[in-house]
Amino acid sequence: MEKRQQGDVAFISGQWPLDREKPTILFIHGAGESSLLWHAQVDGLKERANTVAVDLPGHGRSHGSAKQRVEDYAADLLDFICAIDAPNPIPCGLSMGGAIAQQLLLDQADRFRAGIIVSSGARLRVLPSLFDMIAQDFPAYVEMVDRLGFSEKTAAAVKQPFLEEHLKARPAVAGGDFKACDRFDVIARLASIRVPVLVISAADDKLTPPKYAEFLAQHIPGSRRAHIPEAGHFVPIEKPQAVNAAIAEFLDAQGFA
Ligand code: COA
Repeated sequence: MEKRQQGDVAFISGQWPLDREKPTILFIHGAGESSLLWHAQVDGLKERANTVAVDLPGHGRSHGSAKQRVEDYAADLLDFICAIDAPNPIPCGLSMGGAIAQQLLLDQADRFRAGIIVSSGARLRVLPSLFDMIAQDFPAYVEMVDRLGFSEKTAAAVKQPFLEEHLKARPAVAGGDFKACDRFDVIARLASIRVPVLVISAADDKLTPPKYAEFLAQHIPGSRRAHIPEAGHFVPIEKPQAVNAAIAEFLDAQGFA
């Protein structure tokens, strides 16, 4: 796995240079997170596709400013995709990242042949108390992420590196990300997504419940659904093999090299 930088944006890549014969899965993390979320996908799918996971501006190792609107992150991603000249890009995002993926598929329809939405929804209202908690007691917020973000069946050792990374985030960045989620609502536009979309949900997700994924799958024409048991919101960390298998099957079904 390579650690690289393109302008302000730090990213990890399963291989470099990118193989022009393969599609490029662009992994996008959620609120207050980093590319650490996607290590198992970047590594595990690297023979199947170019795998690139970004730290959004202001997150992880990236410079630049974090944003408070999904549209602004989508614009940053589009610039990044152009800058690395990603062959056949497929946005794949979790939670806020899934909102960014939807925004790209809606506003830049001619640039993408497919998309992947994980633990997300077409509207992402946020508990109002979360904003106060982030501003006033960040460790309590991270403790809540631990409690609500994972299945009870997920081992502490699996969660620990991710939670430690969470604690390093700046509260203002996490708060701005949740504001972006709270403003996001593309429910009325979903039917205009015309490319194949894989919707991945997890049975024990308390932050974006499976009914959000059902709604996406019902309203995006030609979408496919993968529902993963014994995992929570952070299913790419909790059940990496199941997530990777679902993505690989989706690529096969779409006839991607
Ligand atoms: N897809 C499908 N249905 C959705 C939806 C989505 N993306 N978002 C909301 N809905 C549904 C709700 O389930 C609810 O349905 P119901 O009336 O049958 O129960 C209805 O639409 C209205 O929901 P909402 O607009 O979210 O308002 P609310 O007042 O019911 O709830 C919260 C607001 C914040 C309490 C709620 O969204 C919540 O608990 N969110 C999860 C916790 C959180 O903060 N997650 C972080 C997300 S990034």
